[in-house]
Amino acid sequence: MTQALLREIIDYANRANPYPLYEELRKTPVSHDGDGPYVISTYYEIQSLLHDPRISSDAKNLKSTGDDPLGQAEDEGTGTALPPAFLKLDPPDHDRLRRMTNRPFGPPHAPHRVHDMRDELGGLVTGLIDSISETGNLDRVDLVDQFAYPFPVTVICRLLGVPREDEPKFHVWADTLAASLDPDPDADPTQHGKGAMDARMELGMYLAGLIEERRKKPGTDMLSQLATDDGPDGSMTTMEALSTSALLLIAGHETTVNLITNGMLTLLRHPDVLKRLREDPGLSVPIVEELLRYEPPVQLLPQRTTLSDIEVAGVTIPKGASLWLILASGNRDPKRFENPDRFDPDRKDIQHLGLGSGIHSCFGAPLARQEAQLALSELARRLENPRLLEDPPPYRQNAVLRGPRHLPIACDGIRP
Ligand code: HEM
Repeated sequence: MTQALLREIIDYANRANPYPLYEELRKTPVSHDGDGPYVISTYYEIQSLLHDPRISSDAKNLKSTGDDPLGQAEDEGTGTALPPAFLKLDPPDHDRLRRMTNRPFGPPHAPHRVHDMRDELGGLVTGLIDSISETGNLDRVDLVDQFAYPFPVTVICRLLGVPREDEPKFHVWADTLAASLDPDPDADPTQHGKGAMDARMELGMYLAGLIEERRKKPGTDMLSQLATDDGPDGSMTTMEALSTSALLLIAGHETTVNLITNGMLTLLRHPDVLKRLREDPGLSVPIVEELLRYEPPVQLLPQRTTLSDIEVAGVTIPKGASLWLILASGNRDPKRFENPDRFDPDRKDIQHLGLGSGIHSCFGAPLARQEAQLALSELARRLENPRLLEDPPPYRQNAVLRGPRHLPIACDGIRP
């Protein structure tokens, strides 16, 4: 049954609207058969597990190769792959590396960094919307290729100090790694994960070259700081700096694009909210929070393991079991949210699971929020009479990082 369940969750036929499937899943908060993962679908159970120290994110505890999304498990055979980044580590290594990575990014050492990027982000948004206008073709605009993809990619490149012109190179590696997030029950176990391993190795070698350069001639970018910083936790080893920067590059690449695209799709389906946003850009703050609940770009976390027997909703999950936490299902749990299938930015309480929770909660959250708020408020303000050309739009294959591959719209003009 779990293989059937697993197939249903990753079945492309459910991509445009996975929510009826999640509603079905919530009838059994913990679903499982003989050998597959335990699938957890209700809000409070997911929330508790994300805070439970008996749950591990460490890649070496994963039994199934398909459960190693960012290819974080070490390649013991050749020793050539990167070691796991902190997403895939438990305390104390997770905490040490996250603390070190945070020094150049957030409080207490760099409390202004994200806020100070605001003008730069605003300039990028303006430039991209101007370019749409300059094409002269407003009868068919692809909001993914022309806006939602290039924006966060440029932002993460600038933050890290990765040359934007190298994007076509690492786009391929990032896409391969993102695709490997989807566990494939039919994969040949000897081959599965090989593409991701190769992509990760190439990305590692590419970043190694940049880090080497920055060690010799540091700049103000995060790569330089990760490579040269020497704080209370000491310095990162070269391998730690490499896997951390690979994690930031991918995480900052493949998620925000879906938040912006899911956001515009949702707003175009709710023209009353779009109109309110056009008149009041401040509404972008609750809109983005409600989007992270209603259409979360990370739908599920397929990479947790139990370190001991744990009882969840009356089911004993044994030590060493693999867990899938369906964040997007928890976000629609009627036991937690009133009218959960309603998109309502006026909700008084939007404590969603869209950015995770607990010690692994999203590191880039302040940046992701700021990018999405700016992007959506400017698109709402500048696009005249925007309308969807395809509903639902074509989705990416990926079930874990879910979002449209293209979002074709038309509009009557672009305001200055
Ligand atoms: C809308 C955009 C984003 C969404 C929806 C998102 C979502 C998430 C989620 C759900 C997790 C938890 C993973 C887990 O518990 O296993 C996470 C972790 C993480 N995110 Fe994001 N993310 C976004 C943007 C970003 C950006 C822009 C960055 C980088 C600047 C980033 C960096 C990270 C990192 C490094 C982690 C690992 C944290 C840890 O293990 O302590 N994310 N993100």
